[in-house]
Amino acid sequence: MSHSQVDSHLFIILGGTGDLTGRKLLPALYHLARQDLVDGRFAVLGVGRKRELDDAAFRGWAREELHAARVRDDGLEAWCDERLHYFGTGGDGSGRYPELAARIEEIERLHGLAGNRLFYLALPPGAFASTIRGLGEAGLHHSKGWTRLVIEKPFGRDLASARELNELAHAYFSESQLYRIDHYLGKETVQNLLVFRFANAMFESLWNRDRVANVQITVAESLGVEDRAGYYDRAGALRDMVQNHLTQLLSLIGMEVPIAFESDAVRYEKVKLLRSISPVAPEDVVFGQYGAGQIDGQQVPGYLSEPRVADQSRTETFVALRLKIDTWRWQGVPFYIRTGKRLPRRVTQIAVTFRQPPVCLFESFGGCEMRPNVLMLTLQPDEGFALCIDVKVPGEPFRLETLPLHFQYREAFGSIPDAYETLLLDVLSGDQTLFVHADETEAAWQLYTPLMDQTVELHSYPAGSWGPAAADDLARRDGFHWHAPIRVDTRHHLTPD
Ligand code: BG6
Repeated sequence: MSHSQVDSHLFIILGGTGDLTGRKLLPALYHLARQDLVDGRFAVLGVGRKRELDDAAFRGWAREELHAARVRDDGLEAWCDERLHYFGTGGDGSGRYPELAARIEEIERLHGLAGNRLFYLALPPGAFASTIRGLGEAGLHHSKGWTRLVIEKPFGRDLASARELNELAHAYFSESQLYRIDHYLGKETVQNLLVFRFANAMFESLWNRDRVANVQITVAESLGVEDRAGYYDRAGALRDMVQNHLTQLLSLIGMEVPIAFESDAVRYEKVKLLRSISPVAPEDVVFGQYGAGQIDGQQVPGYLSEPRVADQSRTETFVALRLKIDTWRWQGVPFYIRTGKRLPRRVTQIAVTFRQPPVCLFESFGGCEMRPNVLMLTLQPDEGFALCIDVKVPGEPFRLETLPLHFQYREAFGSIPDAYETLLLDVLSGDQTLFVHADETEAAWQLYTPLMDQTVELHSYPAGSWGPAAADDLARRDGFHWHAPIRVDTRHHLTPD
């Protein structure tokens, strides 16, 4: 996470003409190059199935993608022409790895590169294993410089397949060469959770079962499955979001203080936290699937009417869970997490609710309504935090109102870099802190695999709602309720979203 200039290298993208490459990877690489963070000598090799494409056609495609991602400046044309290359595998891509190896060496000679290579698997998860094997068998797991392999999520479908994939990867690559990506860890606001907790002694001293009543993590999306049903219908929200993004947020909120801010120490604490979570009981899980409804006044179809969703699909598009962490710090404090597609709006918010004052001192003045303090950490889109505290409304005797002490990222710092930029720079610099270790991915699957082996009731919820009513019961059973996401308005008051 701290970078000097990174070494000269060849950035090889397997899945080189895919959606992720066009929308995220090329714009991030271009921005990094423009900031002069990367040594002048580097090149990008897109590897795709289309044999009919050549360097020129790939560059043309890349230019269009960069334009669509609103990258527009004078250097773009030249960057594409000078830096981008293409290699078409044809068919299913297997069997052409020796030719790929030869092409890599040719490009390295052309650009005078030192042999450092980064392979990025921007591929559907089903292609990870054969690609890793292909690279390994062709001897591409090492070179005369460094070789690093970046693997997108989801890493496996369950514990057994994640283990198999780890074993296969370790047959060729060492763990220090592997970068399992979870783009949530590249978000500034997610990294700020570490700073918030470990650079502010005041909060850390409150961060425990004596002070905290419950923790809620909401990752809501208003989008539906879009054109990704081919993948999503086989994955569902538990595999697509909970096992990775939400579990990462949970780890950062719940983990102990690492002994140092370096990759092994941070990852060790995260794994420890995951291993201390009790197996999720069936009554602590709610699955939902969206039906037709309205979002922002627009009628939207239900999941079963989306293109390429299987008839009668039972795939969950919403998950809510109640988790128990069996540590000295968190014993007895429920952690509720929920995520879903087609919820009213896009918002990622963590609400830490503190315990109520033991006695209401102002009751004799009538209508004493004391609310617990809540810390709302908004990770996106209005990045910032609000600590909700009760204050006396001037005038009338002791009427209380909840107001926020708040901070907004954009007000303080302006724009925030894209997560992929941060993560790519980390891979290029050899910093694994923000990547998921083999043990971590297995510990996360361990938590949820038992749920995949049983039939969990699937509730329906209308698009534009906050999910099935059954999810409310998870919190209600403990005497709590889900906090409606909030926003701090221009008068510095809290408004429900
Ligand atoms: C991806 C999931 O990992 O994260 C998508 O596959 C989801 O289904 C996306 O929409 C959400 O990411 P973000 O950064 O928009 O919150």
